[in-house]
Formats: sequence, structure tokens, C-alpha cells
Amino acid sequence: MQNRKKIGILTGGGDCPGLNAAIRATTKAAILMGYEVIGIRNGWKGFTDNDNQPLDMVKTSGIIDRGGTILGTSRWSPLKVENGTRQVFDGFKELGLEAAVVLGGEGTLSITSKLFKMGLPVVGIPKTIDNDVKETDYTIGFQTAVQIATDALDRLRSTAESHHRVMLLEVMGRRAGWIATYSGMANGADAILIPEIPLNEAKIEELCRLLTERNRKGTGFSIVVVAEGTEVEGKTIIKPGLDISKVSKSERIYGLGGVGNVLGEIIEKKTGLETRVSSLDYIQRGGTPVAYDRNLAITLGVKAANLIKEKRYGEMAALKGNRITSVPLEKVADGIKTVNLNVYKIAEIFFG
Ligand code: F6P
Repeated sequence: MQNRKKIGILTGGGDCPGLNAAIRATTKAAILMGYEVIGIRNGWKGFTDNDNQPLDMVKTSGIIDRGGTILGTSRWSPLKVENGTRQVFDGFKELGLEAAVVLGGEGTLSITSKLFKMGLPVVGIPKTIDNDVKETDYTIGFQTAVQIATDALDRLRSTAESHHRVMLLEVMGRRAGWIATYSGMANGADAILIPEIPLNEAKIEELCRLLTERNRKGTGFSIVVVAEGTEVEGKTIIKPGLDISKVSKSERIYGLGGVGNVLGEIIEKKTGLETRVSSLDYIQRGGTPVAYDRNLAITLGVKAANLIKEKRYGEMAALKGNRITSVPLEKVADGIKTVNLNVYKIAEIFFG
């Protein structure tokens, strides 16, 4: 019997809901095209650790609604360790892979782009709850995180109303405030604070005025949502107890957390309004993907399998204006996609 061609699939960076739906779709589509599929465990690290598992129709059945990734993930980058790239190329060769599909956010996909330029035959699929990957309207996981954050904000509103409080919810979003904008808009939040609009002194005064005015007019509660990467008076807030000197400069963005508490204190002090703070943290990244994310994962997964079949390496499956298409990874690696400020302005109409 003739040996079937082999492809690899891996998930890198932070996990998100919808990864398994994408693994299932890519694997099944590729098998139907005649490929054998190998799952590489824990991102790029799986190549150096020789940690992998064959994927088939049975192993990828029944996982469409499962959160996380059956392959495991890591932020390990071959570009940051000695001989890292060599190990990936060797691992690729040893497994006899023709190509690989990489599911990643902007960090993983820019590594993928660099490895492609070095000669690795790869295609990408965009995933991250942050939705900050360029050249695609949405990333897998984003809509689920928005739904989780919206549910949380709705719950906070009922208790804010009962206690006549300001309720502040901190959500993820390191350099882009997509989750904050879309969940805040869906909830009808009174203020949405995002990294794209740093909170300087004037902005803080404006926010406090808005909350005080709302209270004066008789609406005895307010809802504020803040993205973790929003600067307060020129400072990015990191997790309490984190020793920043031990973290490399490029990795510091992963230790964010606590902006809600910092801001909550400022608001309470300046307005005299009782303020409470909650943070969604990793809860917004786990669990069942909403139908939108599953369908996005399926369509992007099938597109990625087709890209491999057509040998269109160095491209990423993408969603553009309701069309599944593909874009060069090189363009994706060039920075991040920040919030569409036209959408933000619409949410802003309802502030206060
Ligand atoms: O990339 C998604 C994300 O959830 C960010 O919004 C968050 O800051 C970061 O990952 C957290 O990373 P880690 O899982 O490494 O703590």
C-alpha cells in the first residue's frame, strides 16, 4: 500500500474555546483529502520534545463542543532558545511531515511567519479571545469570551442596582480592547475603558464626572468594563506579587492584571460612590465555545486543509466580510489589530 502524505497540526499560545472544533475540522477534512494527520503536543515545543500523537476520525469525534485544546499548548518559542529552529526543522523531518497547520494568536503566527521564511511549509489559523490578529475580522474564541463577559456584566448589573453601587469588571485584552468593547456594548455599560485610549488624568476626571452625574440624575448604579492592558496615568498594571525583573521584556504583557482594583479605588475616592471590582481572568478563556466560534473554527479549518492541498504555504485562513479567504502570514505578523474606533464610538453614544 502506498504511504499517505503526512501533515502536522499544533496549537500555540494561550488556549481559547473553539480550538478543538478547529482541530476536528482540519483533521477530518485533511483525512478525506488523503492525508495522515499528526497532532504535535504543546505548541512548537512538541517538535523538540518529540511529543506527538496520530489524529484520526475517532480521536477527533465528540470534541466539537469541548473548550481548551486536546493537543495542549505552550508559549514556547523556537526563536528564543539556542538551536530552537533547528530542532523544529529536524522534528518536522523526522516525522516525515509535508506541511503543518498552526493555530495561533499574533505571537504564535509571527513565529510561524518567520519559520516559513526560513523554509518551513506551514499555514496558519487565527485564534485568540483577544481578537487582535491582523487580516481577519474575527479570531476563533473571541465571540465566546464576549458572551461570557456579557453574561458577567448582566449579573453585575442586577447586584449594582440592588446596592446602588458602581460595579467594575476587568476583562482580558493586553493591547487591544475588543472583549471590553463588544461585551460592554452588548451590556449597555456606562463606560468602556480600553488600551487604545489610555486613561490620563483628564480621562479619569471625565469618567468620574460621568458616574457622579448619572448618580445625581437618579440612576443609582453604574457599570464599567475595563480591559487589563488599559494604562492608568501612564502606568500598565501588572499582577500583584509579580517580580517584573524576572520576566523578559516581551513577556511582560502576559503578567497583566489588577487595573480594575487600581481604578476602583480612584473612582471611589474621587466620587464617593461605593465601588466594587470583579475580574473575569481565565474564566473568560475556558469552557464550551458558542456556535459562532465552532462554525468559524470549522470553516477556517477546512480552508487551512485546502491551503495545504494547494501547497499555498505561508498563508493564513481568514474571515473578511463574511468570506473565508486567505492572507499572507507576513502581513499578519506585522503588528496587531486594534479596536475599530467607529464601533467604539457607537458604544460611546450610550455611556453614562
Ligand atoms: O492571549 C490571550 C490572553 O488571554 C491575554 O488576553 C492575556 O493577557 C494572556 O493571554 C494571558 O496569558 P497566560 O495564559 O500566559 O497567563
